[in-house]
Amino acid sequence: MQKIHTVLSMERQAWKWRRAGVRVALVPTMGYLHQGHLSLVQKARSSVGPKGRVVVSIYVNPTQFAPGEDLSKYPRDLKRDLALCRAAGVDAVFAPRDGQMYEGGESLETGGQAFSTHVVEHCLSQSMEGKSRPTHFRGVTTVVAKLFHLVQPEVSVFGAKDFQQAAVIRRMVRDLNFPLQVLVAPTFREKDGLAMSSRNKFLSDSERAQAVVLFQALQWASACVRQSPRRASFLKNRVQKILAQAPLARLDYVAFFDPLTLVPKPKVAPGDQMALAVFFGRTRLIDNRRL
Ligand code: PAF
Repeated sequence: MQKIHTVLSMERQAWKWRRAGVRVALVPTMGYLHQGHLSLVQKARSSVGPKGRVVVSIYVNPTQFAPGEDLSKYPRDLKRDLALCRAAGVDAVFAPRDGQMYEGGESLETGGQAFSTHVVEHCLSQSMEGKSRPTHFRGVTTVVAKLFHLVQPEVSVFGAKDFQQAAVIRRMVRDLNFPLQVLVAPTFREKDGLAMSSRNKFLSDSERAQAVVLFQALQWASACVRQSPRRASFLKNRVQKILAQAPLARLDYVAFFDPLTLVPKPKVAPGDQMALAVFFGRTRLIDNRRL
């Protein structure tokens, strides 16, 4: 397995693969890999076949964290991630060193030399995560666009847990004509239903036990809507009551929306999408499902 730590060597390798006609699949991650990431790797492998190359990028992207969010605390363990990637049959890990991705620094305050170009999606990124974390998607689309340029994949795989992120990236790929296919792999869950996430590591034992409430709320809403369409206000009210049974949970948002346009649905029917974000202390968890 190749380990690539600079932008220049990634560009050179991508160019060699391209010249040799090798199919490349990219799995962008922020590291601290778990079973969910490895399922994205599997999907990447089956899409490019044994002769293709599967690249995992590992980069905790500072521009998608707002000041005061958990950037400095975000879990990192490159050694362990590399071992997991090797065991999963990954061909190359692109783990850019500090200072590689944002030449001149990523802060606009650092003045004239700082990185100052962003990719912004203006529609799908406004609600839910975009409302709670206003600069988040600008950071995601910018870094993912850069990764697409550097790795030049023909396929890139994202997780369905970040439903809105996948929708925003699909839109960026369509709008900016990136020559690649975006695949979305199903959410990987713990035995009790909690969606796997690197941030689960921050939960205390009691928070972890109560975190299953996100899954329970999704399951309840799905069963309810399958009986008959319901008003979103009714569902939101009942979801708040379900969350109240987990005293450590604090709801950030719950939303019911069209899965393609992300437009909120006042009346919710089977086939609509539900998403929610819940705080446990300073840890913020998200989850979603098709109802
Ligand atoms: O989903 C993530 O881990 C990140 O948002 C991504 C896509 C790797 C961009 O930094």
